[in-house]
Amino acid sequence: LLNIKVAIDGPAGAGKSTVAKELAKKLNFTYIDTGAMYRALTYKAIIENINVENRNKIVELASKIDIELKNDKVLLDGIDVTNEIRTPSISEKVSYISMIPEVREIMVKLQKRLSDKGSVVMDGRDIATVVMPDAQFKFFLTASPEVRAMRRYNELTSKKIPVKYDDILNDIRKRDKNDTERDVAPLKKADDSIVIDTTNMSIDEVVSKMYNIIANG
Ligand code: C5P
Repeated sequence: LLNIKVAIDGPAGAGKSTVAKELAKKLNFTYIDTGAMYRALTYKAIIENINVENRNKIVELASKIDIELKNDKVLLDGIDVTNEIRTPSISEKVSYISMIPEVREIMVKLQKRLSDKGSVVMDGRDIATVVMPDAQFKFFLTASPEVRAMRRYNELTSKKIPVKYDDILNDIRKRDKNDTERDVAPLKKADDSIVIDTTNMSIDEVVSKMYNIIANG
C-alpha cells in the first residue's frame, strides 16, 4: 500500500479534522490539515499588522511563509502556533484570505507536494476537487449548522477559550456562505465523493465507516 490518498472535504465544524486525525492514526498515514495552513497565514497577517483585505501584502506574505505540520503541531516560521490559530478572531478573518486566488495557488502547490511524500489523509474544502483529484478515497462530511456550531462551542470551551454559542453559529453560517460562494475553488462536493452526514453520528462511528470503506476498497 504505497501512496494512498484520502481526501476529506466539508464545511466548518462537520468533524473533519477530528475524524481525519483519528483515521490517519488508524491507517498509519500522515495527516495534513490544510485549514491550519490558511489559519497560520491569517495569524501571521494579524501579528504583522497587515489588513486581511490588503491583497498584495497578503500574497507577498504567503509567498514567503514557512509552515510546517509536525505531529499534530502547526509551526509558523519554526514557532508553535497550534492553539493561537484556533481563536474566533482567526476563524472570522481566514475566509477573506482563502478567497485570494494567488494565496490558494501557493497553498495548493505546497499541499500537492506534501501529498506526494507518502500515504496521507488530507482535509479541507477543495481537496477532492483541486488538491488531490487523483485520490483513491474521497469523502464529503456534512452536518446541520446547529450541530456543527455546538461541536465548535464544546471544543473551544473545553480549551477554556471563552465563546458564545450564537456567535459561533453566526460565524459558521457566514463562513459557509463565503466558502461556498467564492469564485476560486469553492467548497463543493466532488462528483465521486462519498457523502457522510454526521449530524447523528459519533466520531467513532464516522471513523469506522470510513476505515471500512478504505480497508475493503
Ligand atoms: O478547516 P478550518 O475550519 O480550519 O478552515 C479554516 C478556513 O480556511 C475555512 O473556513 C476556509 O475559508 C479556509 N480553507 C480553504 N481551503 C481549504 C481549507 C481551509 O479555503 N482546503
